[in-house]
Order: sequence, then structure tokens, then C-alpha cells
Amino acid sequence: MAKRENWGSKLGFIMAAAGSAVGLGNIWKFPYTAGENGGGAFVLIYLFFVVVIGFSVMLAEFAVGRRKQLAAVGAFKSEDRRWTFAGALGVLSALLIMGFYPVVGGWSLAYVGKVFTGLLSAPDAIGTTFDSFITNPFVPLMWMVGYLVLNIMIVVKGISTGIEKAGKVLMPLLFGILIAISIKGLTLPGAMAGMEFLFKPNFSVVNPSVVLAALGQAFFSLSLGMGIMITYGSYLPKHENLVSNAAIVTVMDTAVALLAGIAMFPAMFAFGITPAQGPGLVFVVVPTIFAEMGGMGTVFAGLFFIALSVAALTSSVSLLEVVVAYLIDEKGFNRPKAVVTASTVMVALCVLASLSLGDVGPKLFGKGAFDVFDLLTDKIFLAFGGFFVSIFAGWKLSKSDLKNEVTNGGSVKFAIFNVWYVLIKFIIPLTILWVAYGGIKEGFESGAGPIMIIGLVIIAITGIFSRKL
Ligand code: TRP
Repeated sequence: MAKRENWGSKLGFIMAAAGSAVGLGNIWKFPYTAGENGGGAFVLIYLFFVVVIGFSVMLAEFAVGRRKQLAAVGAFKSEDRRWTFAGALGVLSALLIMGFYPVVGGWSLAYVGKVFTGLLSAPDAIGTTFDSFITNPFVPLMWMVGYLVLNIMIVVKGISTGIEKAGKVLMPLLFGILIAISIKGLTLPGAMAGMEFLFKPNFSVVNPSVVLAALGQAFFSLSLGMGIMITYGSYLPKHENLVSNAAIVTVMDTAVALLAGIAMFPAMFAFGITPAQGPGLVFVVVPTIFAEMGGMGTVFAGLFFIALSVAALTSSVSLLEVVVAYLIDEKGFNRPKAVVTASTVMVALCVLASLSLGDVGPKLFGKGAFDVFDLLTDKIFLAFGGFFVSIFAGWKLSKSDLKNEVTNGGSVKFAIFNVWYVLIKFIIPLTILWVAYGGIKEGFESGAGPIMIIGLVIIAITGIFSRKL
């Protein structure tokens, strides 16, 4: 095999890994999921999962990837062919997430245009504008394709030139914009009620599906459970400190999610908008807030959607890369051919997802493609992906090998190695099973249960057939 491409610099890696983590998950998904799940208690459980499970699984993924210097499927398969399915599951998750992520990425691009062409001049119509936009059968598809083309352009150029450059410039910009919006929101009268909603836990609203949503959110937001961080870790030089890299990425990602919440909830409460808006939250609430701020509002709203598009792009590029890296490493494709193949499948899935929002196309147990892809990945595949990575690292690799990889042969200090090891080996897998069990059971009341069971069946089938991959 040719010498593996490496990250141009340490900062480049952090920026790309954080760029993968920080995306629609933080800014679009986190606020509406927190809003739908009752606020404070959900946020607290999410933070607990981020620290205990998220960080630990990220470190495990980095270690597994760098050890063999192979992307997801290869890293598992080269150890033991029976483990191929864990990597294959990751490739499948990446495909399915890319079956709806570019749809929302396309909305974000479209909103840059909408903001600058008068969206804010009729604040009362913002909600209906969003609904009629996403249910239109053609326009969102064009934006989705435009969004995917941007991804293709970045990924075709290869790992260090494309992804790294994009991340380096665009991530700091995003952070700055969110801080500016938060300050603006917090100075509005009545803003504190939003902070209370977001940070004051009310445990009476917690049930097993809130807990599963928090776990899914942690995995989704940190880009875990499907081999992204395995793939990224595989490009990381042997002398890099995996522990501090995992810690930095975890903190940055979580900071952006919280910041997005702070940017949105105080202003929402100040303006009397309800938190349980669903997936339209960012697209309805943010323009509404800015519409009431006069001329500067247009500029802020425009910057916001540019930042959102950029954040989405650095994430979806990593999702595309998982599938591309698989096709290159395992199937011998060259990069352009791999990119074209992967994105063709993604366009097809995205068309289904986008049309389903206008109630067009096939349904599964009453749910459209968009919801099905989201449910399968967020609630099932990622959690079980995290489960399998933990089992793999904890039981398949020897403790000394793992310690060697994580500490760079003893030169990196990691005082809580043993704590981490117990987490990875026992506590995290058991917790994931327990949370998933509760969430699936509860899901039978909301109609999501059958789809989650299908997810489990798909995992089983992948396990049986993936030796051929
Ligand atoms: N973490 C990204 C976000 O928050 C989405 C994402 C990118 C992702 N790569 C992933 C989610 C891998 C799960 C797994 O928007």
C-alpha cells in the first residue's frame, strides 16, 4: 500500500475532527431536541453522556484507527474478519445520515439566499415560508444537490488539502458568530427564562426515550459510533497525543452545542416563541428573532446561515469520507470514482428524504424516509456502533496493546487509564444496552418502536453477511 496521507499539522487534525463533530447536530439538532425533550434535564443527561461515554468512545476510536492506520472497515477486519460488520455498520450509517443531512444542509444554503432577499421583512410569514419551502417537491432538491456538489469538490481533493484547509478557516469564524448572537440574545428583556429552560433540570419530564435521545444526541454530535473518528485517527501520526486530542474535540463540540442553545433559547423566550418547534426551530426562530432587530438583523441572520452551512459542510465531508475511504481502502477504487459512487447513492436517498417531508414517497410504519433515516441512525446504529467499538477495544485488543496505543508506548501520561479501560470494557457497553432497551420499549408508544427493531435486524443481517465485504 502507498504511504498513508497524514495530517499536515496538529492544528489541522483538531480542526478537521472538530469540524466533523461540530455541525447541524450542534446547531440544528441540539436546540430542537432539547426543546422537544423538556430542556434542562435533557441537557444535563446529554452532558453526562458526553463526558463519560462520548470522550471515552472517541479515544477508543482514535486508538483503533491509528493502531492499524486503516479506515473503519479495514481497522476491524485486519484484526479479525468476524469484526468486519462493525466497520460495515459504520459505512451504512454514514450512507443513511448522508441520506438526510444534505437535505438540511441545502435548507441552510437556501436560507442564506432567503435572508438577503427579504425573508425578514414579513416576520409573521416566516413559519409558513419554512413549511412551504421544505414541502415543495423541487426547490429543496436543487439546494440539496448544490450542497452535495460542494462536498464532492472538497472530498475529491483528498484529505489534507481539502478538508483541512476548509476547517482551519471556517471553524473559528463560526465560533465568533455564535458568541456574537448569544450576547445579543442574552441582553434582551426576559432572556433569563430561556437560560432557565436550558439549564435548570426538571426531572419529572424524563422518561427512557428522553435518555435515549440524549445518548443519541451525544453520539451524533461527537461524530461517534460509525467509524469517522477511526478513519480520522488512522491518518494521525504515531507521536500525537490521542488523549488530549479527544479531550479538545469533545470540549469544542460541546461548547458549540451549548453556545447554540444560548444563542437561541433566551431570545426565543424573550419573544414568546415555544421551544418544542421540531426540526424547523432554527429556520423559523432565528429569522424571527432577527426580524425584530431591524436592519442589523438581516446581516446577523445572513452570517448565521453562512456559518451553519459551513459547519454542516465540514461535518458532511467527514461522512462522505467514511464511505469514500472504504471504497478506496477495501475496494481499490481511485478517489474520484469512489466519490462519485458514494454521492450517487446519497443523492438518491436524499431525494426520498426530501420528498417525504411533502408527504410524497414510500412510508415505513407510518414514517417517511427522512424520519426513518434519522431514527435508524440516531437512535440505533450510532449507539450500537459505540457499543461495538467499546467491545472491540475492551475485549478484542489486549490491554497492553491498547495502553501502548493510547499512551504512545508509555510516553503520554494518562493517569485514569484504568478507569477509562473499565468504562470501555464494561460500563459503557452495559449502559448503551440498558438505555437502548428502555428507549425501544418506550418507542412502541410513539410509533418509533418498529423502526428501531428493524434497525436491530439490519445490524444482525450486517453481522451475518459482512464477511464478504
Ligand atoms: N457530528 C456531526 C454534527 O453534529 C454530524 C456527523 C458527522 C456525524 N460525522 C458523523 C454524526 C458521524 C455521527 C457520526 O452535525
